[in-house]
Amino acid sequence: REKIIIDTDPGQDDAVAILLALASPEEIDLLAITCVAGNVPLALTARNARMVCELAGRRDIPVFAGCDRPLGRALVTAEHVHGKTGLDGPDLPEPTMPLQDAHAVDHIIACLREHDSGTVTLCPLGPLTNIATALQKAPDIAPRIRRIVLMGGAYFAVGNVTPAAEFNIHVDPQAAGIVLKSGVDITMAPLDLTHKALVTESRNAAFRALGTPVGIAVAQMTEFFERYDREKYGSPGAPLHDPCVIAYLLRPDLFSGRHVNVAIETTSELTMGMSVADWWGVTSRAPNALFLGDIDADGFFSLLTERLARL
Ligand code: BDR
Ligand code: CA
Repeated sequence: REKIIIDTDPGQDDAVAILLALASPEEIDLLAITCVAGNVPLALTARNARMVCELAGRRDIPVFAGCDRPLGRALVTAEHVHGKTGLDGPDLPEPTMPLQDAHAVDHIIACLREHDSGTVTLCPLGPLTNIATALQKAPDIAPRIRRIVLMGGAYFAVGNVTPAAEFNIHVDPQAAGIVLKSGVDITMAPLDLTHKALVTESRNAAFRALGTPVGIAVAQMTEFFERYDREKYGSPGAPLHDPCVIAYLLRPDLFSGRHVNVAIETTSELTMGMSVADWWGVTSRAPNALFLGDIDADGFFSLLTERLARL
């Protein structure tokens, strides 16, 4: 079982990723959920994460609130995609499980120090502020991290929040730069990959057909999330970004990618947060990340549907 911490800014697709992890206890031991400001402000991401745990009947998962703003820039949010609450779509009850007292960054540090070195994986699904802050505050944790598998970045697919940048990296480019320079084993699920994992009508119908509270809520979440891509781009469905990270842990055989050097633009306003991936190896910069580019989308959606059915 891989021990993981999900660092997240839910977000409908974050919520589905959390549910996928909770539905896979044989492979994944979810130690904690740490929340960060991103899609919506911190108070809402911390609320939404707890709502998702309660939906899955897992009030025992410790949920922590972390950084409420990026390291060096004003927070950019994405209510235009995720709705006012960040989790618009289903009508879920307000959470009653408590938020943990400790700060998410302190918990990440403590958790990495407490578990055997090389056994805890970090799964960031939002801006990298908590992770970068932890690395800066406690540099000793870097070699203790088993690996980081994150959703963020774009190469050929370029940006979704600016023409050049993907949302998670754009919100806190400085944090992303720190993480990518940390020397930790990093796998990135960029837009190039996630835009191949589209929730089409029939895939969404399969969630709904589960007939369970989880299946129905996931269908309602993805329907809400989808209207943005459908209306704005005429896309056949919305990209289910964040669950790709958890699916990669479960079934790496569904994915392929390349070890490349990824550097982050942190100065130019025009291309702020751009992930500059040396896909063709034209620089001498050493590879620092496995950049995923392809996914077996049908395999991914059957895995997801089959797992959600277990909750
Ligand atoms: C990423 O940004 C957020 O809106 C999603 O939750 C995902 O993590 C995609 O760019
Ligand atoms: Ca997210």
